[in-house]
Amino acid sequence: MIEKRFSAAAETYDRHARPQLSLARSVCDVLPEIYPEQILELGSGTGQLTRLLTDQFPDVLIDAVDLSGKMVEYGRNKLKRFEQITWIQGDAQTYRGTDPYPLIVSSATLHWVSDLRKTFDNIFQNLEPGGFFALGMMIRGTLKELLAVRSEIAPEKTPPSALHTLDELIDHLHAAGFKVLRKKLSEEEVSYKDTTDFLRTIHEQGVTGSKVASGRAPLNRSELNRLIELYQERYTSPDGVYATYEAATLLVTKE
Ligand SMILES: C[S@@+](CC[C@H](N)C(=O)[O-])C[C@H]1O[C@@H](n2cnc3c(N)ncnc32)[C@H](O)[C@@H]1O
Repeated sequence: MIEKRFSAAAETYDRHARPQLSLARSVCDVLPEIYPEQILELGSGTGQLTRLLTDQFPDVLIDAVDLSGKMVEYGRNKLKRFEQITWIQGDAQTYRGTDPYPLIVSSATLHWVSDLRKTFDNIFQNLEPGGFFALGMMIRGTLKELLAVRSEIAPEKTPPSALHTLDELIDHLHAAGFKVLRKKLSEEEVSYKDTTDFLRTIHEQGVTGSKVASGRAPLNRSELNRLIELYQERYTSPDGVYATYEAATLLVTKE
């Protein structure tokens, strides 16, 4: 399901991925002061963070893993001049490298996994002792305006946000055995031309229908029209309408 959604969005993803690019930069800001031999990236997508890593670590081998075959193909083509990157189709929840890594990174991906605790356990196993894991994740509060309007229009079709809070994230990291070294919270309001443009954009990012933006059941035509109208009325920005993205960036270590 997630694999299909992202594969469908591979071609259009980069055009709209401003919040994800900010988060990738934020992950680079918390990286440890080391020059690792190899890096594992989980959820490499079209390669936004991967590209930043090649600037920071020009000769380091990077294993870039993504669940979506189309995303892997797109990233491989886009960054084909960087021979140090190996593009791999795999699941962050279960992927294992041949040897443990000194540094694992992930941006704008792990809020998609169905079992975060299991994923953190797997990442812990994939790290060398003393290794580092830098991650950026969307957290609760992301697209809160959409959730608010949706719950007003169709409460029975709208579950509470499925995204984690920062405290929940940290609890999961501790339970997996990690020590938290750095943490950062960020909030970004992104403007869109109008509500239709906003909904199309999140669709083209692969977000629509996911636990980040969906409900228990799809809205019918009249509910959708009402949603567009209410959103447009309430969340006006000088450029059209806005949506909030809340993210957490953390650096943790396996002591
Ligand atoms: C929002 S994109 C972020 C991509 C990239 N990290 C960036 O910053 O632009 C999320 C990516 O995570 C991938 N993904 C989702 N669940 C995954 C999983 N369980 N394992 C690996 N990749 C996954 C999707 O296919 C998609 O390419």
